[in-house]
Amino acid sequence: MSTSTLIVQSGLAERLRKSRWPARLDLLQSGTGLLLVLFMWGHMFFVASILLGETAMWTITRMFEGYFFFGGAHPRLVSCVVAGVLLLFVLHALLAMRKFPANYRQYRTLRAHVRAMRHEDSTLWVWQVYTGFALFFLASAHLYQMLVWPQNIGPYASSDRVWSDGLWPFYLLLLLAVEVHGGIGLYRLAMKWNWPGLSRNFLKRLKWGLTGFFLLLGLMTLGAYMKIGFAHQAQYGERYRPAELPAWLERMAPEGDFTRPVLEENAP
Ligand code: HEM
Repeated sequence: MSTSTLIVQSGLAERLRKSRWPARLDLLQSGTGLLLVLFMWGHMFFVASILLGETAMWTITRMFEGYFFFGGAHPRLVSCVVAGVLLLFVLHALLAMRKFPANYRQYRTLRAHVRAMRHEDSTLWVWQVYTGFALFFLASAHLYQMLVWPQNIGPYASSDRVWSDGLWPFYLLLLLAVEVHGGIGLYRLAMKWNWPGLSRNFLKRLKWGLTGFFLLLGLMTLGAYMKIGFAHQAQYGERYRPAELPAWLERMAPEGDFTRPVLEENAP
């Protein structure tokens, strides 16, 4: 079958101009990628609240459950947020699959090209593909867990999952994949759309700086959950509850949940 026949039969002959859809899909992929990176920055700081102590992480968790606003904890609120992130994640992954090597020959050509060129940006792209592939599985498993069991988030519940349920190797792989993928993604996005117009070298340094910072923060956080989980093994399943809260937070807690002992007038 000749090429012209193929073009006529697939209805491309009527196309007077090139489709804008690939560019639109690229913009959507960049947009969803940027939103996921911004989400992850917030996520890493919220999860890292354990470094400030169990009460800090307990407070952040309860805050997301609406505990200080709706008179009690509503873990389903967290599931709603997770569902939104999951949709964004699936859309981003779907759009990114357009860029994956479509078959083994393409993959082999890509690898040979990267080896021959030794061009850093091409090598970074291959790592984007590898870490993206890993996130298909690792991030989906994590998101599913957070979607279905949001009530199992907390200083002891998360530490028991990380240590006693043996999830720390999973989180280590997820941390490495998401930080490498997010860092390269942000760099390629800034290069591709020439935003915010900074030099390639500056963007590269910024990329490695951000990746290094969030990897370090993530490793310290994971270490903290492992340490608490190790110490808490004998009480596996017990939930953390702060003995008391700062007065300003106590006032926002549901009535009667945290009552300070009333000091007797002139008590000795
Ligand atoms: C709204 C959605 C999400 C929620 C509610 C959430 C919640 C959490 C929580 C509570 C932890 C602490 C450990 C545990 O309890 O098991 C955690 C850890 C982690 N999450 Fe998420 N997560 C979400 C989405 C994601 C996504 C999309 C990714 C990556 C693609 C991700 C990557 C990680 C990593 C790497 C850790 C380990 C933390 C560390 O090592 O510092 N999370 N997440």
